[in-house]
Amino acid sequence: MSVVAIVGAQWGDEGKGKIVDLLAEKTDAVVRFSGGDNAGHTVINAYGEFRLHLVPSGIFHPHVACIIGNGVAVNPAVLLEEIDDLEKHGVKTDNLFISDRAHLIMPYHTLLDGLEEERRGESAIGTTRKGIGPVFADKIARLGIRTCDLLDREAFRSRLAGVLELKNALLTKVYNAQPLSLDEVYQQYCQYAQKLARFITDTSRLLQEMVSQNKNILLEGAQGTLLDPDFGTYPYVTSSSPLAAGGSIGSGISPRQFDQVIGVFKAYTTRVGSGPMPTELKDEVGEFIRQRAHEYGATTGRPRRCGWFDAVAGRFATKVNGFTSIALTRLDVLDVFDSVKICTAYRLHGELLDRFPSDTSVLEKCQPVYEELPGWKTPTSHIRHATQLPPQARRYVARIEELLSCPASIISVGPSRDHTIMVKEVF
Ligand code: GDP
Ligand code: IMO
Ligand code: MG
Repeated sequence: MSVVAIVGAQWGDEGKGKIVDLLAEKTDAVVRFSGGDNAGHTVINAYGEFRLHLVPSGIFHPHVACIIGNGVAVNPAVLLEEIDDLEKHGVKTDNLFISDRAHLIMPYHTLLDGLEEERRGESAIGTTRKGIGPVFADKIARLGIRTCDLLDREAFRSRLAGVLELKNALLTKVYNAQPLSLDEVYQQYCQYAQKLARFITDTSRLLQEMVSQNKNILLEGAQGTLLDPDFGTYPYVTSSSPLAAGGSIGSGISPRQFDQVIGVFKAYTTRVGSGPMPTELKDEVGEFIRQRAHEYGATTGRPRRCGWFDAVAGRFATKVNGFTSIALTRLDVLDVFDSVKICTAYRLHGELLDRFPSDTSVLEKCQPVYEELPGWKTPTSHIRHATQLPPQARRYVARIEELLSCPASIISVGPSRDHTIMVKEVF
């Protein structure tokens, strides 16, 4: 039996979807535990190419229970569209379960996310505008509406009426926007309820049973460590915890049951949205990486900011999550460089800094200190054994392992399932 958490180690989009789809074959359950449809997880397999926002990336394996955990904020319209799309492509969704404790994204959440971004103007966070900040704020403020609320229509209407009164005051009096109609929102969500009811259940109980039956469970993280509200580059963060610890709270599996925590890192760095990124390349090298790797967001299509691997941030992510190993993705993107760089420290006011600062305004002033390694200038996508990698590529991976004090269990050399070097079996 194993409980393994797959966690984004940078600013998201590290390739978690690919890794989960790959590892799901040997598991009994895959659980999304945080975020919402701000996530976009690309999976490429025999069924085609998919960008999953809410459905766990294990869905392509019919024997795997795919669970949307209590820590996920569910936009029912997006979820239903995703289920339809999967079914159209011949992917069965009978093995999908939605936590009855998961919070719902309501129309006022998406509206308020956009309005808040407009209000912030130049200091906008660059959110995905999917309602994530507002829905998790409501969860903590005890104003949320959960999937279980959909199952009792009368109680749902009365709860919605109370919350909507407040939200409409906010929309009209603070933001000068139009109010929402109680009847329309109620009717719409009753329709969603009809379609989703069969999936809604106490998933924490299901998972605890699976744990006691010694099943293999994969926790699928969304976003990345540096977007965590506590440990990320606050306030340029998301609103639920992408960390391994979030995997426990967002699923209902005790932290004592975790066997492995795998940190997914790109072989370089990307970030979408605003906020500091010390290794960002604003020059032609950054543009080259963006074009070569097609670094555009899976959810919003925005260009991703690109830069070299940041080992200072990487060490920080390794510690805060307790990674037992790392999955290094997109190594093939670096195949064409004469040399590659790794940031090993920051320079701040002339001094060297080897820790990741808590204060975002300090991080903004940090200059990267690079170590330059020779490139390998050889294609790697066809390679399936680490020993067959060019020596310079092996050295690059080894240096990252050394700087993070963490071994690589997986090296990914292309977007498909089989573009993978398993250094060490996970299950
Ligand atoms: P996620 O949000 O962490 O699941 O990552 P995304 O799906 O948003 O972005 C990762 C992108 O990298 C997707 O386009 C994947 O198809 C692609 N990808 C994943 N692993 C590799 C790899 O090893 N090599 C290449 N070239 N692409 C990869
Ligand atoms: P996956 O799971 C990359 C970023 C947004 C923005 C910040 C806050 O695909 O790795 P939010 O909409 O969450 O309030 O936006 O977080 N962000 C992501 N960046 N990958 C993601 O998910 C992200 N989810 C949110 O761009 O900077
Ligand atoms: Mg993504």
